[in-house]
Amino acid sequence: MTATELELQLAEEGTKTLSMQQCILDNLHPLGHYRQDEDQKVYVSISTKFLATFKTLLSRSTTALSSENMQFYKPPADGSARDNLMTRWGGMLFRLMACEPFPSCILEFSEDAIITVHLAIVNEMNLFPKQVISPTTDLKVDVSVVSARQMTITSKISVHEAKVDSQLLDFYYPGLSFNGFHGDNRGAASFYLKTNEFVDCQEEFYLHISLQLSADLLAVPLLIGPFSLSESVDEQPMSTLRPLYISAAEFVSIKESVSDLPGKIWDSAFFVSTAVFEYSRDKDSFNILDLSTGNGAVGLSTLIRIQTIFPNKETRLTLTDLEEALPLITENVKDLKNQYSIADVINIQEYIWGRSVQKLIQAPFDVIVACDLIYENEFFSDLVNSLDDLCTPGKTRIFIGYKNRGLTIEEKNNLWDSLRAKFTVERISVKSNVAPGHDNIINDDVGVEVWQLYKNFISQV
Ligand SMILES: C[S@@+](CC[C@H](N)C(=O)[O-])C[C@H]1O[C@@H](n2cnc3c(N)ncnc32)[C@H](O)[C@@H]1O
Repeated sequence: MTATELELQLAEEGTKTLSMQQCILDNLHPLGHYRQDEDQKVYVSISTKFLATFKTLLSRSTTALSSENMQFYKPPADGSARDNLMTRWGGMLFRLMACEPFPSCILEFSEDAIITVHLAIVNEMNLFPKQVISPTTDLKVDVSVVSARQMTITSKISVHEAKVDSQLLDFYYPGLSFNGFHGDNRGAASFYLKTNEFVDCQEEFYLHISLQLSADLLAVPLLIGPFSLSESVDEQPMSTLRPLYISAAEFVSIKESVSDLPGKIWDSAFFVSTAVFEYSRDKDSFNILDLSTGNGAVGLSTLIRIQTIFPNKETRLTLTDLEEALPLITENVKDLKNQYSIADVINIQEYIWGRSVQKLIQAPFDVIVACDLIYENEFFSDLVNSLDDLCTPGKTRIFIGYKNRGLTIEEKNNLWDSLRAKFTVERISVKSNVAPGHDNIINDDVGVEVWQLYKNFISQV
């Protein structure tokens, strides 16, 4: 796939939308060129292999960010000095992201073949508040190679840091003399590879990139690939994946689409998956519905975690979403089937809130996951009706992950009032493993609320 020059017209000069668009584009593609017309219109030109991705991203992000209530940096209201993530980073769960230009899908053995990955640190909306990193802050990254077959870090190929010294890197990342970030949320990692044992040239690998534990910032790591070491393999588009850690060293890798609403892993996922896993502990069989799963992250990581730790438990999973989301969900399920024996227990179905729940063939469910589904007022009553229809009294537990992304207090209160009218509602606290060495991050620290809902046999209805 060859890169194409793309020119996009942005919002009007001086508007909030323009600064948001520039922030998102800079994070995704730091090498873009901006120009302003005589008629004051602003354009950005970028060389990209992913035209459609960029266009979709821009339109979706613009819509998502146009809400006046959007809060993407939130210092604590009481000015408290509690030394936690909320105080230091405004309740944001950051993540590492790969930016264009991406490295080739074919990596080379030779020691002089230096590979460079352009990186950014962003939140779930691809934004980053500049005040989080001081001009003198250094954040180093670790890069390792992951075998695509087992999705575990392999010792077959080792990664050796190369000096970041090209003119291009110096220009875009001034002062960066190591793999990581210097005083900016944009940085790079340059390295070469050495094979430590025989590697089949057809074998596929991923690069696992994470902030070093000593770095004064937490960011969810990144997987990019697949790569191979042979030119005989066809070039294929590079994917961005997230490792969801199910133990200190094991992770489930989920493919993301950075451009689409249903394709990303949103912040609540990291905590709701742990809450559901903990709830499954004393059940012999466990039937999960991940409602509007996006890319399958919560349901799949929970299923694999249960199967890995309790192999005798009979666990089933249904993943639903809008039709447009189903291809990525199907791809993630297919990829994971190659590594885990999950073939016969997963059911993927289209389901739109408010529609009849009769078609959901694996019902009734022990658990329903509703993760980051609350952000648009107009769909609330459909969503509440679906949850109501799907909940079996005395059996079903609903786990809601919620983060403020622009609802007014009134809208949020109305929604919770309508849920309380139908369910017993309890807020819970969950610790989760978000990145290697960061295994006790509390949901409240990154602004995520986790709620459990259920109906007793003597129903409140
Ligand atoms: C912010 S994403 C959250 C995805 C996923 N649950 C997660 O936590 O990563 C919201 C999801 O709701 C889905 N969605 C939006 N409106 C919907 C509707 N009316 N019916 C069903 N799903 C819907 C979207 O396709 C998207 O996957």
